[in-house]
Amino acid sequence: MTTTENYKKGIKITEIDTPSIIVDLNIAQENIKKMQDFANKNDVSMRPHSKTNKSPYWAKKQIEAGAIGICCAKLGEAEMMADGGIKEILIPNQIVTEQKISRLVEVNKKSKVMVAVENKENVDNLSNQFEKNSMKLSVIIEVNVGMDRCGVELDEIVDFAQFIIDKPGLEFEGIMGYEGHTVNIGNFEDRVNETTKAMDKLINAKTILEDNDIAVNIVSASGTGTYNITSKIPGITELQCGSYIFMDGNYLKVFDDFQPALSVLCTVVSRRDNRIVIDCGLKSISMDQGLPEVVYPKGVKLISLSEEHCKCEIEGDVDLKIGDKVFVRPMHSDTTINLHENYFVHRDGVFDEKVEIVGRGKFK
Ligand SMILES: Cc1ncc(COP(=O)(O)O)c(C=O)c1O
Repeated sequence: MTTTENYKKGIKITEIDTPSIIVDLNIAQENIKKMQDFANKNDVSMRPHSKTNKSPYWAKKQIEAGAIGICCAKLGEAEMMADGGIKEILIPNQIVTEQKISRLVEVNKKSKVMVAVENKENVDNLSNQFEKNSMKLSVIIEVNVGMDRCGVELDEIVDFAQFIIDKPGLEFEGIMGYEGHTVNIGNFEDRVNETTKAMDKLINAKTILEDNDIAVNIVSASGTGTYNITSKIPGITELQCGSYIFMDGNYLKVFDDFQPALSVLCTVVSRRDNRIVIDCGLKSISMDQGLPEVVYPKGVKLISLSEEHCKCEIEGDVDLKIGDKVFVRPMHSDTTINLHENYFVHRDGVFDEKVEIVGRGKFK
């Protein structure tokens, strides 16, 4: 840790070194509360996805607000969250190699882990290793609800569930289906229709299982863009939304139910006439979902990013000189967060604390 990274609480957030991720704590907490209140009102649980925030600091705030646990995309994230004191972890993805399953056994000694399955050979391997360790692993079946990523189809589900139930070392808990193909649909009516179609498939899966005397305790789904659709579908028991905590620039194009809490603080390093260069680049801000935007000051248009330079154009009469600070919002928070070591958390522009992004790079 460098000395320049230690700041006194109470300084202006613009005094910290750049490029840095800054998060307005008041806004993030309002987002957490709004989502949890909505879930409570609609009688579903929150199991927020931590692939966005990658830090026990934020996961604990979500659990304090009422979440029953969290989701982790990767085993490395689950290990980090278990070490950080998070006790209920769903990995809504597949863990398939012997190497990784033995790590899963270790995580399950610290926290209760649940994992998604969709393949019999994988179920066999999970069962063997957990049985050998005299442990039980909770599993849910991933159903393909139309995203065509992972997941079983309806005609396989009874046979597959029975296969799991007959295996030692496993506890069958229910089903999940992620409607990732509908979360960003711009027109609300279209989003409702496509999400309802996807969730009909998931609820059908539940009905088919129950008709075959297989109990389904958990029906898990939803991203930020579908929280207010999926939560209202009878039978859904929990939501996996994650991006709402900071809100992505891209999601803000679709709806503004949650407020943007995160930006990258940058410094002007060059100015010639209307062209300025700021000190973020592809190594400190992502553009997998499009070019980031300058949110402050107004009247600065982001043109292009290279590794360590960001070229912008000043539109009109903006007073910016070398050394001045600029706030930039990425279109996709998750991939930007993965590039940084710390969050610099502030309240209304006043620095509060530095928070380590412990899950940065934990993609194994
Ligand atoms: C399985 C799963 N659940 C939930 C989410 C959360 O979605 P969002 O970031 O839109 O909240 C994702 C996002 O990739 C996901 O892959």
